[in-house]
Amino acid sequence: MLILGIESSCDETSASVVEMYDADVELNDKACDKPLNGNVRRILSNVIASQADVHALYGGVVPEIASRAHTEAISSVTYSALEEAGVSLSDISAIGVTNRPGLIGALLVGECFAKSLAVSNDIPLVAVHHIRGHIAANYLSDAANGKEALKPPFLAMVVSGGHTSVIEVNSYTDMKTIGRTRDDAMGEAFDKIARVMGLPYPGGAMMDKLAGEGDPSYLKLSSAAINDGTLDFSFSGLKTNVINHIHNLEQKGLPLPKADIAASVTKCVVDSVIKKLTMALEGRDFKTLVLAGGVSANSHLRKATEQFAKAHDMSFFAPPLSLCGDNAAMIASQAYYEYKAGNLAGTDLNAYAVAEV
Ligand code: KG4
Ligand code: ZN
Repeated sequence: MLILGIESSCDETSASVVEMYDADVELNDKACDKPLNGNVRRILSNVIASQADVHALYGGVVPEIASRAHTEAISSVTYSALEEAGVSLSDISAIGVTNRPGLIGALLVGECFAKSLAVSNDIPLVAVHHIRGHIAANYLSDAANGKEALKPPFLAMVVSGGHTSVIEVNSYTDMKTIGRTRDDAMGEAFDKIARVMGLPYPGGAMMDKLAGEGDPSYLKLSSAAINDGTLDFSFSGLKTNVINHIHNLEQKGLPLPKADIAASVTKCVVDSVIKKLTMALEGRDFKTLVLAGGVSANSHLRKATEQFAKAHDMSFFAPPLSLCGDNAAMIASQAYYEYKAGNLAGTDLNAYAVAEV
C-alpha cells in the first residue's frame, strides 16, 4: 500500500510517499520490483523543507516563526512529494501525520492539513507519535541496506534535539519508555554548547566533526547518566559546566580549544549512553539494539553503540544518515503499522505538545 506521511512537529516541513507491503499481503507485481524477504519497504519520495536557516538567526527554534513557515510550505511540500513519487491522492491508501509530541502550533499545521486532505479525499487518517516515527525509520533502512528486516521486540535508544529516551519496543505499536532525560535533550545540549562556542545553529553535526579532531581527556565532566538506579539522564549540568568553562576562558582572553571541548562533551555523552544501556540490559533479554533520532547521525555515538551491541551479542540498527533527522518517510513507515493495527484517527483528532510513546 502507498502511504502519504506528513511531518511538521519542529522546524522541518516534510511529506513523503512510502510503499509498504508485507509477505502476508498479495503483492502487486508492478510495485514490488525488489521484494525483501517477501516484504516491500520503498521510499518513493521524501521532501524536506528545513527552516534551519530562518531559526539560525536566533540561535534556536522560534515556535511562532516555525508555525508560520509550516503554513507557507505544507501544501507545496505535500504536492511535490506526490509528484516526485509519480502518484496522485487517489493512489494513497492512508495518510499518516505526526500529531504528538512537539511544538503545538507547528504540530497543528500538519495535523489540520492532513485531516482536511483525508476527509476531502476519503482517505483513512493515522496519527503518529514522533518518537515512534524516529524508531520506524529503521524499518525503512532494512530495505535500503538489503539487511535482514528489523522486527520487534528490541531495545531503542532515541536521541534527538527534543528527546532522549530508552524504549522497550515490544511490538510495532506497543512500546514503553524505561528511561528519559529529566531536563535537556541530548541534541539540545550539543546545540547549546555549540552556540556558545560560536558555531552556527544547529551545531550538533559540527560538534561531531570537531570531536574527531580533539582530545577527549581535555575536560573532566560529570556523567549525564543520573546515578540513582534509574535509566534516566540529565544533560543540563553537563551543558552548564561546559558553558561556564567557555565563559571562563573568554574572560581570561584565552583561546577556545573547540575541538577538545567537543571531544570531551562527546565522550561524556557517549559514556553516559553506554552506562545506561548496560543497565537497561540487566534483567532484560533483548537481541537487538536500535538507535534513532537526529543525534543518531553522530558518528561517535553510532560507533560506540554498534560496538556495545556486538559485545552483547545483539544485532544493531541505526537509520541511514538521510533518515536520522526529522522527515516524513519515517512517519509514513510508522503509520503503516498503526494502520495495520487498526489505529485510525477520526475528525476529532487533536495535537499534543507532550505525550507518552
Ligand atoms: O530528530 P531531529 O531532527 O529533531 C528532533 O526531533 O528534535 O534532531 C535534531 C537534532 C539537533 O539537535 C541536531 O544538532 C542533532 O540532531 N544532530 C546531531 C548530529 N546531526 C544532527 N547531533 C550530534 N551529532 C550529529 N552528527
Ligand atoms: Zn525528531
